[in-house]
Amino acid sequence: MVSKKLVPLNFWLVLVQFFNTINADFTLYAYGTNISGLPVFYMNSLAYIGYQIPSDLGGTNITFTMNDTSLYPQKNTTAGGSGTITGNPKLYIDTSTDAIAQPGFTTNDTDTTAATTTGFRFLGTDIYWKASDGTLLANFWATETDMDGVWSLVWNEPDDTLDNSTPVVIQNMAPAARI
Ligand SMILES: *[C@@H]1O[C@H](CO)[C@@H](O)[C@H](O)[C@H]1NC(C)=O
Ligand SMILES: *[C@@H]1O[C@H](CO)[C@@H](O)[C@H](O)[C@H]1NC(C)=O
Ligand SMILES: *[C@@H]1O[C@H](CO)[C@@H](O)[C@H](O)[C@H]1NC(C)=O
Ligand SMILES: *[C@@H]1O[C@H](CO)[C@@H](O)[C@H](O)[C@H]1NC(C)=O
Ligand SMILES: *[C@@H]1O[C@H](CO)[C@@H](O)[C@H](O)[C@H]1NC(C)=O
Repeated sequence: MVSKKLVPLNFWLVLVQFFNTINADFTLYAYGTNISGLPVFYMNSLAYIGYQIPSDLGGTNITFTMNDTSLYPQKNTTAGGSGTITGNPKLYIDTSTDAIAQPGFTTNDTDTTAATTTGFRFLGTDIYWKASDGTLLANFWATETDMDGVWSLVWNEPDDTLDNSTPVVIQNMAPAARI
């Protein structure tokens, strides 16, 4: 006979899956107000959002793999762009108290609070970062740039309201149709 307690537990496990390692390449997409699944791309070691990759400025389409709570970008060899990625960088976010900073990519082996490269995980399709107290945070925002259709990705530690910005969810799921 099935214990009553097992039923909700199994139900929960099926619905909520954590991942901190994904070997297959995936693209990350941002979703928010007026941002309907725009890919995260790489430009001069910083993370941006948009379909209009400024190739003349060294922008490049990327895919990611995930290993042991770190996210590794690779140039999308099908639709890359002019940028080059040297070494084996990882995505970092600035998790310092009250930091509002653009995530980027670093090959540094040692984390600093200002460049945290570990602690990422997927909850379903959404990326979270796990703070040392165990809280799951997803304080991603998009801030307009002076380039048409290009937003800076921002980690907004205090989750403050920012000018010319909107909160975004970062997912590994492509939009149903390009908008
Ligand atoms: C979304 O787009 C509409 C139409 O362009 C604009 O009026 C509105 O301010 C935008 N909202 C944000 C949060 O950018
Ligand atoms: C994943 O990371 C671990 C160390 O955290 C390393 O030993 C392993 O080789 C890595 N695997 C891949 C596929 O990069
Ligand atoms: C790489 O870019 C091509 C062309 O935009 C796209 O079709 C493909 O899905 C991308 N690769 C991945 C793994 O997302
Ligand atoms: C980047 O990817 C987008 C979407 O797949 C594509 O439209 C664009 O042409 C690509 N850019 C470059 C520079 O390859
Ligand atoms: C990587 O390390 C170098 C040398 O210590 C430092 O100057 C640089 O700011 C670090 N990069 C990041 C993203 O922390």
